Amino acid sequence: MGQPLSRFEGEDKVRGLATYAFEHPVPHPAYLSAVRSTVATGEIIGIDCSQASAQPGVLAVLTHLNAPRLGIDDGELRILQSGDVAFRGQFVGGVIAESSEIARHAAALVRVDYRERPHDVDLESSRERGQLRVPQQTMALFPMDTDKGDVDSALAAAAVQVDSTYRTPWYNHNPLEPHTTIACWTSAGLTLHVSTQHPQGVQTTVATAFRLEPDQIRVFSPHVGGAFGSKGPRHSDLILAVMAAQLVPDRPVRFALTRHQMFSQTGYRSPTMQRVRLGADADGRLTAVAHESIEQTSRLKEFAEHATRATPTMYATPHLQVRQQLAALDLPTPAIMRAPGECVGMFALESAMDELAVAGGLDPVELRIRNEPDTHPLDGLPFSSRSLPACLREGARRFGWESRDPTPRARRHDGWLVGTGVAAATYPTLRLPGSKVTIRVTPDGRHTVLMAAVDIGTGTRTALTQVAADALRVDLAQVELRLGDTAYPPAAPEGGSAGITSWGATICAGADELRRRLAADHGGTVPAEGLEVTVDMPENPHLKQYAMHAFGAQFAEVRVHDETGEIRVPRQLGVYAVGRVVNPKTAHSQLIGGMTMGLSMALHEASILDPRYGHVVNHDLATYHVSSNADVGTVDAYWVEEDDPYVNPMGTKGLGEIGIVGAAAAIANAVHHATGVRIRELPITLDKLL
Ligand code: MOS
Repeated sequence: MGQPLSRFEGEDKVRGLATYAFEHPVPHPAYLSAVRSTVATGEIIGIDCSQASAQPGVLAVLTHLNAPRLGIDDGELRILQSGDVAFRGQFVGGVIAESSEIARHAAALVRVDYRERPHDVDLESSRERGQLRVPQQTMALFPMDTDKGDVDSALAAAAVQVDSTYRTPWYNHNPLEPHTTIACWTSAGLTLHVSTQHPQGVQTTVATAFRLEPDQIRVFSPHVGGAFGSKGPRHSDLILAVMAAQLVPDRPVRFALTRHQMFSQTGYRSPTMQRVRLGADADGRLTAVAHESIEQTSRLKEFAEHATRATPTMYATPHLQVRQQLAALDLPTPAIMRAPGECVGMFALESAMDELAVAGGLDPVELRIRNEPDTHPLDGLPFSSRSLPACLREGARRFGWESRDPTPRARRHDGWLVGTGVAAATYPTLRLPGSKVTIRVTPDGRHTVLMAAVDIGTGTRTALTQVAADALRVDLAQVELRLGDTAYPPAAPEGGSAGITSWGATICAGADELRRRLAADHGGTVPAEGLEVTVDMPENPHLKQYAMHAFGAQFAEVRVHDETGEIRVPRQLGVYAVGRVVNPKTAHSQLIGGMTMGLSMALHEASILDPRYGHVVNHDLATYHVSSNADVGTVDAYWVEEDDPYVNPMGTKGLGEIGIVGAAAAIANAVHHATGVRIRELPITLDKLL
């Protein structure tokens, strides 16, 4: 561990030799194209497939009339079970054909008639009409209604107060590789090639939905071209592909979502309306923190973004309150997107902290350091390690914060107003359940490590091999790690920045068991036939004794053109405390990737809903803007040394998500410093600055 190795498969990927799910060579494939609803809510009263079926090359047409009855009660996945339509763009059918072109053409010829019902897709009006409810706890670390002390009295008595409402828009998932599946039914069962963060989850979901035993299904997921949460939970494209393949037994059916379809099928980040109230004494010590978030879910299934998730962990305060409310709308179901909760929640909290710094005349770096808690502010647990002040200080030093004049609009350069901003970042160190590993060793000292984990493009294959080599106390060349196949022992998802923790802790336990067995049964020598052990992921014995979180500090420099309002971000700098870093090269890529996604969130990204029809109108990469090379300035990521013996045997905290957390707030705070304009609604477009 600690070597900055390049990804083992990097060269193959660059040369186009790494096979992604859709590209897997299969004999005589058929192709699926989806038919989607054109109304937001209603009922199908007629469906005419005759024209589609008559096209040469069409093999079958799938509708709710011939679809199998599913054995799963997940509302998002229960497609084609009736004529009901729950959102615009929902799958109502599919065409299977000899080529993707024929399938797509024929899908457009399926005629569907609807009896439309009035729809409700507007979060703002839902709130006005009092149709909000407290969600179940989808990803909560703390209850959705959390209270400590009496925030209202403390706020009223505070020397300095902030009471601001922040809005973040709907964000859609756009990994480079869309969601893809190859499904093939044979008498032996079902083979799937899927672009997923969780092969085991695919296997379990499909087994339940299609009433199979899990061992009748084999899922391959060798390479994944980005995911960001969108390929963690299963979505209905998987179900549609498996249904379609059932109609053409023994033929592999290929299905790739189009970019348009991804805007309604793959989960998305809910828009949020967040009110943050902060109270502090004259020295800037927080006396009260209150954070409320209003978000949306669908009528089909509940998912809460839970934007207040990070707030109880951040700052020392005697009075604390978080609140959460959801509106269930006639829209697609939201889902996890990189740092769900923390990403948008910390935009609000860290913007409010900047407002507090301005209101109290304090330096925003110093304000955060001054409010550093000794123990977890809510449950009082000690932190397993916590280096936020070190990140802030190191970041300030590297960034050149010290000479900053806090006055807004004080710096100008060639017609550009220049400002700098800071924000804190955090993400919990999670360990997700459900992993096992098999390790085999042969007398020549070669180790094979098998688990159905997956590398979603982050460098996991490389970093986890480094973990395994250290755990097995052998050279890297002696370890072969095999992932991405449910024939291997089950593995937790690649999500929640928990991949290395969950899988690495399992591999470490496997290595210990292998050594124990070798010593106990074989006198320390590998027998001629080799030796194999399989172990489960161990529980973390320190779980209830310590609060485990990564932290970071984000800095940004912005330039806003005084006349046009044009915004540039020449510099982003992040310093993180993420425990031990297994592979500095892939870690750095994850962190600057997250920061770049944060830049994208700050300046560009927003899905625009047309309330008349209930769909995202800018459903392509021409109109849903993400940061391109020309938008990105210098992005630097560093980390401080952190030795955490409690999180897992490697001492790692996870770093896939923390890079996006706080990045947009740092930019918005820098915009305020540059211009004096406080942006409380993302993205920061120039119209908001003029
Ligand atoms: Mo990440 S949103 O947990 O895949």
